[in-house]
Amino acid sequence: MQTIEPIEWLHGKIRIIDQSRLPHQEVQLELAGYEEVAEAIKMLRIRGAPLIGIAGAYGLALCAQSIEIKSRPRFLRELHRIAEALASTRPTAVNLRWAIDRMLATTETKRDIAAIKSALIIEARAIHDEEREATTRLSRLGAALIKDGFTVLTHCNAGALATGGYGTALGVIKAAREQGKHIDVIATETRPLLQGARLTAWELRRDGIPVTLITDSMAGHFLSRRKIDCVITGADRIAANGDTANKIGTYTLAVLANENDVPFYAAAPLSTIDRSLPSGDRIPIEERDPEEVTCIQGVPVAAPGVRAANPAFDVTPHRYVSAIITEHGIARKPYKASIAKLFRPPQTRTKGGSSGRS
Ligand code: MRU
Repeated sequence: MQTIEPIEWLHGKIRIIDQSRLPHQEVQLELAGYEEVAEAIKMLRIRGAPLIGIAGAYGLALCAQSIEIKSRPRFLRELHRIAEALASTRPTAVNLRWAIDRMLATTETKRDIAAIKSALIIEARAIHDEEREATTRLSRLGAALIKDGFTVLTHCNAGALATGGYGTALGVIKAAREQGKHIDVIATETRPLLQGARLTAWELRRDGIPVTLITDSMAGHFLSRRKIDCVITGADRIAANGDTANKIGTYTLAVLANENDVPFYAAAPLSTIDRSLPSGDRIPIEERDPEEVTCIQGVPVAAPGVRAANPAFDVTPHRYVSAIITEHGIARKPYKASIAKLFRPPQTRTKGGSSGRS
């Protein structure tokens, strides 16, 4: 399998693959300031929950290097202003806020500005390395749920492009393949921005994994005709009770999967779990430009003046989620207990509730 590096730290620049132009153009961009990083996140040049966390961390490290203020308190005020601008670009995926908060926390113990600047680079690289490691681990654990001969339906793009690592939902599929299992994938196109058609189908073909593209509205048909053995998606924010926010349309898929007795799995690193939210009701849902709905790839499909709505994510209630696959194990219902257990030290995690081998 060829490695995809959707983001790279180049000391003084961040190099990204512009995902908004895939699959027809493979264009790399070099970002040098926080406005460019913020624009790239907003416009989905960099996208996917874990990847925008990594991008936010690198963005902050990068911008810190060019702040010329000599007083520590004023330097930190400027850093916090930039951090806020980056964190507010996309509100649903908690990984972005998580990574920015982690970056800011590293500044607290450093006395001088030079030490803060180098600590920020070290921390951003650590976040990238740890997320890469986490997605590899969760993919291997999750592969146990995928049997030889399975047809797996996935939505949006939760692969290397979305994570800067192995992938989450696609990572699980890739790991199952690497274990020698024969897997077929059905990818939903994922309107309005077509991450399934443009990115998932491209990524799977590159990896030599058989994939069939369907429109979002075909999923119920395939589920009811027993053509799908499980549904697996990534996640943008998971509340303490297991309610899961992911790309718009995920809730519909989860309900349809349950109606047809097909397991619905969410795969995500722990950085996607927001234990400060008891349930999914308060997960902020990003509202995007209605033009993304009235147009496809910039081409108008609705009559001029037609009103459109564009929530980018929805929340799947935990009752529809069969399991949550993380790098610390596979959590199952009741999620309040099994998710809390994922955050405990390793030796206390293995008893009951969740495990790496469910
Ligand atoms: O709007 P996007 O393309 O950033 O949405 C991405 C998704 O919803 C993914 O499924 C999610 O971030 C999981 S990525 C591993």
